[in-house]
Amino acid sequence: MNLKDCHNYNDFRKLAKKKLPAPIFHYIDGGSDDESTLKRNTDSFNNYDLIPSVLNDVSNVDISTTVLGEKIDFPLFPSPTAMHRLYHHEGERASARAVEKMRTIFGTSTMSTVSIEEIGEINKGPKLFQLYIHKDRGLTDNLIERCKNANFTSMCLTVDTVVAGNRERDKRTGFTTPPRLTLGSILSFILHPGWTINNLIHEKFKLANIVHMTQKGSTIDKSVIDYINEQFDPAMNWNDAEYCVKKWNGPFALKGVMSVEDAKKAIDIGCTAVIISNHGGRQLDGSRSPFDQLSEIVDAVGDKIEVILDGGVRRGTHVLKALSLGAKACSLGKGYLFALAAGGQKGVEKLLEKMKAEIYRDMKLMGCKNLSELNSSKITLRK
Ligand code: LAC
Repeated sequence: MNLKDCHNYNDFRKLAKKKLPAPIFHYIDGGSDDESTLKRNTDSFNNYDLIPSVLNDVSNVDISTTVLGEKIDFPLFPSPTAMHRLYHHEGERASARAVEKMRTIFGTSTMSTVSIEEIGEINKGPKLFQLYIHKDRGLTDNLIERCKNANFTSMCLTVDTVVAGNRERDKRTGFTTPPRLTLGSILSFILHPGWTINNLIHEKFKLANIVHMTQKGSTIDKSVIDYINEQFDPAMNWNDAEYCVKKWNGPFALKGVMSVEDAKKAIDIGCTAVIISNHGGRQLDGSRSPFDQLSEIVDAVGDKIEVILDGGVRRGTHVLKALSLGAKACSLGKGYLFALAAGGQKGVEKLLEKMKAEIYRDMKLMGCKNLSELNSSKITLRK
């Protein structure tokens, strides 16, 4: 199997599984506790059906939109995700290039393995930086300042990770960053020589944005779980979020909002957007799926704030369903990380091209010329 055999999410996942040592594959693929929320994130799209209309002359269809202050070619972008160097030796360099080419927003994490400055050089398109608030509060100002200088266009604060979720797959596989050979994992590294050799001969793993501030998690073997629990500040509150919004002074999203009340508070502190998300089912298992929670939030605040749906998106039709219920755009995490592992820059480009083509074709099949034609008349809860 190789990249030419990858036509959808599951194909990219399969190829990533073939290429990655097991601890790394399972770190992307896994969720928390029983992984019931992880599963429901995608399943919940299937409780709703689309209702197409016909004979509408769909020879020209426009799937571009504007979100977080930026015009993008299609209503989907990669969620900010951590540590791309684990999945491919070019790390965020590969994903940032692919996303620039596809003319959508590049989301990148505080925990990236390529620096803010280098990403700013590589990708001249719209860029979303994802903040984690560390106990070392000096880091927040430092990151925001650097993003301004590197021409990032928007910022989000992840609010669902005050403590790490219970990722039992990582405990079983002994996943650490940087990856460490253990008695249990050595076979998996030997069986994936392509990844293992690339990992050895290319630049060493580092958390490029914070390596100068903290050694922990950057140069010593750590689990991500330990890193989050030691470094992230569980005391983070609404005043801190408001501080970040003001300090950034541009398009700002809260990522990980799940309730109407919190979406209203996001408006009060000046946010441009809320990203409805349960962190890909990796934090609170038993949490509702973003898609199931979408209507309630859109109905309450959709006219005052952009609502972005993150979680479970695998198909173009999932994006169309979310937009029909009032989302402005969707983001996806796991899918493009599998694509990165499967084929570096080319892999991410191919996955995004596939998703864009699905959205475009499905719009025609829906009889819609513009995304604004997707509304509640186009979708129904299956009885
Ligand atoms: C995770 C964090 C690092 O989900 O975003 O593993």
